[in-house]
Amino acid sequence: MAKTEEKATLKDIASHAKEYGFIYPSSEIYDGLGATYDYGPNGSLLKNNIKEYWWKAMVQLHDNIVGIDAAIFMHPTTWKASGHVDAFNDPLIDNKDSKKRYRADVLIEEQVAKIEGKIKKEVEKAAKRFGESFDKDQFVTTNPRVVGYYEKIKSIEDRMKAAIENGALDDLKQLIVDLDIADPVSGSKNWTDVRQFNLMFSTELGSLAEGANTIYLRPETAQGIFVNYPNVQKTSRMKPPFGIAQIGKAFRNEIIARQFIFRMREFEQMEMQFFIKPGEEMKWYETWKEKRIKWHKALGLGEEKYRFHDHLNLAHYANAACDIEFDFPMGFKELEGIHSRTDFDLSSHEKHSGKKLQYFDQQENTSYVPYVVETSIGLDRMFLAVMASSLKNEKLEDGSERTVMSIPAPLAPSKAAILPLINKDGLPELAEKICGELKLEFNVQYDAKDAIGRRYRRQDAVGTPFCITVDHQSLEDQSVTLRERDSMAQERVSISSLGPEISDKVSLKSLLKAL
Ligand code: GAP
Repeated sequence: MAKTEEKATLKDIASHAKEYGFIYPSSEIYDGLGATYDYGPNGSLLKNNIKEYWWKAMVQLHDNIVGIDAAIFMHPTTWKASGHVDAFNDPLIDNKDSKKRYRADVLIEEQVAKIEGKIKKEVEKAAKRFGESFDKDQFVTTNPRVVGYYEKIKSIEDRMKAAIENGALDDLKQLIVDLDIADPVSGSKNWTDVRQFNLMFSTELGSLAEGANTIYLRPETAQGIFVNYPNVQKTSRMKPPFGIAQIGKAFRNEIIARQFIFRMREFEQMEMQFFIKPGEEMKWYETWKEKRIKWHKALGLGEEKYRFHDHLNLAHYANAACDIEFDFPMGFKELEGIHSRTDFDLSSHEKHSGKKLQYFDQQENTSYVPYVVETSIGLDRMFLAVMASSLKNEKLEDGSERTVMSIPAPLAPSKAAILPLINKDGLPELAEKICGELKLEFNVQYDAKDAIGRRYRRQDAVGTPFCITVDHQSLEDQSVTLRERDSMAQERVSISSLGPEISDKVSLKSLLKAL
């Protein structure tokens, strides 16, 4: 059936997520808590499937990667050593008129994005004008207006980089003033000075009366891996290159927490630290860039939805870093970070703990502190990427409409729905029997309420890849109608072949094989 599609906005996604049990605002009966969300029945299933895809791709498919599950609370010196106590800050600026608060670097980057938009327009115009003979490379390097734009971008980025590296907050403010940046909400240019704000949440360990220690909720899972490097290396008998993977909660007191689950105060990370011999970091950095983009693209959300963005302002621990950006409803934004962290973390933990965190290379008879290449993806952002590219409103050829979530089948919350055509004549009994068999293999739903068309729509809306309809013919010849979500094609199949028919398409195996 022919159809046209309408792409979902962030608002559509948030309201669909709530209505269909994917994501609710946290503690909603008390009007919610800023930038914290709860995952509902369908959401927790989808989230678990994303975790499983990541975990299997990283740990199960790599003989030299093992997993851990470290505590959220860590010794407070961890965060001194990691640099988070001193350097995990955002440069913030307030608009005095609108009272809105912004990250100074983000305001500047948005200005750069505007100039990039102008370049894109010039290129599109020229491509139209010159037709087939258009040479883009030549155009962008010779057209005076475009060259001017590039020079402007470079000068802005150089000034921003220098200001951030030198901690020169006055220079950052001056750049905002010089660029004539206005508050995106109110248009006002009445700015405060730029201030640094630490993003870690702190709490007290022990009772205050006994002189409690300040501890932090971890702002990244990575440090749980670094401090366990010697334990894991010894107990798993690993030698570099090897990796340690972990999935877990992280907490950041984000000041500008907007855009639904894109930026949360409590979120989940899936991180892997790859320990290597010093000097080999660029080779592994490139290898992990390739492997991670392959993992994303295997999902089939659209090759054009991803791009790499090299970091201009390297974090305090990195000597090379990039983001895998995804085309979210609000534009291309960071989904995953790949960082070459040198030996910064292990060396710093050596210094602060007084313990050796080295690897003794027997062949070369030398010890070294391993270098680390890290891959770090936000699980919630990955969830948003899947939802954003799956949720569609389709206009069908017959004039009707449907809302469908074409979630990749291996990630879908339920793999099949079993629907007795009517709720009598022995059909529910047969449907329940089929349900009982299939649920041994994967997650299924049983739905007997409402007309069959409405039940199909309900399953489309939560992304169930297959609907199995049991009718009177099923009682006679042990066959059912199997309906596929995206094409809406229906075929008659025997009950005995349902398991194998569906299994192949919904299992993670098909995705993992492509890696
Ligand atoms: N260990 C390195 C690290 O934490 P990061 O770039 O700060 O690096 C890694 O974070 C990933 O975690 C990001 O690419 C993003 O997907 C996710 N992330 C970071 N802050 C987040 C937030 N406030 N809400 C949701 N996801 C977040």
